[in-house]
Order: sequence, then structure tokens, then C-alpha cells
Amino acid sequence: MENKIKEEVLKLKKEKDFVIIAHNYQIGDIQDVADFVGDSLELSRVIKDIDKKNVIFAGVRFMAETAKILSPEKNIILPVPTAGCEMADMVELEKVKKLKEENKNAKTVCYVNTTALVKSICDICCTSANAVKVVNSLKEKEIIFLPDKNLASFVRRSTDKKIIAYEGFCYVHNQFNILDVKRAREKYPKATLMIHPEAPEDVQLLSDVILSTGGMVKYPKESKNNQFIVGTEEGMIYRLQKLYPDKKFFPLRGKPKAICNNMKKITLKDILLALRGEGGESIFVEESIRLKALKSIEKMIEIL
Ligand code: 13P
Ligand code: SF4
Repeated sequence: MENKIKEEVLKLKKEKDFVIIAHNYQIGDIQDVADFVGDSLELSRVIKDIDKKNVIFAGVRFMAETAKILSPEKNIILPVPTAGCEMADMVELEKVKKLKEENKNAKTVCYVNTTALVKSICDICCTSANAVKVVNSLKEKEIIFLPDKNLASFVRRSTDKKIIAYEGFCYVHNQFNILDVKRAREKYPKATLMIHPEAPEDVQLLSDVILSTGGMVKYPKESKNNQFIVGTEEGMIYRLQKLYPDKKFFPLRGKPKAICNNMKKITLKDILLALRGEGGESIFVEESIRLKALKSIEKMIEIL
């Protein structure tokens, strides 16, 4: 059945001149039919170079919104409209305004995991791949960083600036703990432990490398090791195993699995329905908000 849907998706994608892009956390079947799979930074950049008007974005809402902000002329379709990001949804506008009021000399850096509206009231955007570089590029000594407190602590350790963190977190990564690390290290003593910076600080400090999902894609190629413990969402294992069939990848946590329920809302059937014009949502961002949010994304892209 799945194979039949896959064939139909590939056929329709070609006939209707669509492009499918997918985040690293999408299920294997979706990664297989995508034209491009990547981390949130790669996906936001690739969108500009795509010469097709119609894009199915297999990811969560803030990612599809970022794509629309950068390429308003494109029809960006989120196959499941309720696929949001719980961390992005934690940000309360009033709290951000209050932080800005209380710290008038600070610049505000927002993680790409935020709504278009939040991006529109921040100075510059960042992703987990470039957060340190973005913060260090600013001349101000005080930085309001939102929404992820764990990514903020990673940045704090890599800069001499004062980081004022919003108290948000990702429920998928924030559940990793020291016991998970201990168990995984015992089970796979030779493996390199790769951790996403959305994991809690104590877990980050026990890792061998701290990487965005894009960083995790590149790292095994350069590493002499052929075993890796993967401290991020489960979908990453499929991506890595497909890229490096001769290396082995183990999840940091076996049970309960580290799964982003929002990412996993999207099925192959949803992609098919979106291609047929029978499902999904064409993303809309109000123009005055888009222009302000664009500034903060463009500032990030400028310094890369
Ligand atoms: P990346 O930027 O590393 O792809 O992370 C996005 C994300 O949502 C992690 O939970
Ligand atoms: Fe958001 Fe966490 Fe899911 Fe990433 S894994 S999309 S941060 S809820």
C-alpha cells in the first residue's frame, strides 16, 4: 500500500511540477519522496533556489512560514495544518515586550522556531546551526535570546555576552537526561555521542559533540568512528542510516522514544492529498509582518 502511494506521489509531483522538501525528522517514506531533506537552516535557504512555484513543505508550521517569508511568490503548502511546534507556541508576545522593556540596551535574537509575528518584533533570527555566530556578530553586550533556554545555555558557554534567556524548551529534547546518557554509554561504549543543543545543559555537557541536525548529517563523514549515539528526534536515525549504510546509529533513548508528535502528524497520504489539491494549507503571512520578519531572517543570512 505504502509503495503504491509513493509511486502516485512521485507521478503527481512530476505531472503537477511540484517540489517536496522535508525536515530531517520526517518519517522515512516522506524523506524518500522528497527532493530535498535538511535542517531548518538548509531548508530556509534552499527555498530561494527552487525554480518551481509549488512547494510541499513536510515539516512544521514555523518552517513553512519561514519559507513563505523568504519566497512570497511561491505557493508553500503545509500538508497538515495542525503540525505546529510546541516550543514556538510557548512564546507570549507580552513577555517578549516586557523583556525588551526591562533590557533596553539588549538586542533580541530569536530562534527560527518562532512564529512570523515573533520574528517580526526581533532584531535577528538564528538556527541551532548558527546561534553562536549570530550572537557573536552583534556589537551589543546584552542579548535577549528566545525561546529555547537550552540553546541559550549552549550559546552562553560560547560567548562573553550576557544572555537573557526566555524560559521555553522543546518537550522532545528536554526529556533527555543523565540516566539516558549513562545507559547509552554502557550499551554502546565505542560510539560517539552527538547531542542537539535543545537538550538540557547537563546532558549537553556529557556529550562528545553538540550539533544541529544538519551538523549531525555532516559529522559522521568526517569522523573515523563508525558508531554514533544520536541525541535528537528519532527521524534522524533513518536519515543517517540511509546516508551512511556502513556506520551504525543508535537512539540516545530507547523508551519512550524521542518523537516529535507534530513532525509525525504528516503521512505519505497527506502529501498525496496536498498534491491532489484535496488537503493541506497554503501558507499566508500578512505583508506588514512578513516584511519585518524578513529583515530578521535576512540579517541572519547576511552573516553566514
Ligand atoms: P534543526 O535546525 O537542527 O533542524 O532543528 C530544528 C528543530 O526543530 C529541532 O527540534
Ligand atoms: Fe518543535 Fe521540538 Fe518538534 Fe523541533 S522537535 S519541531 S523544537 S517540538
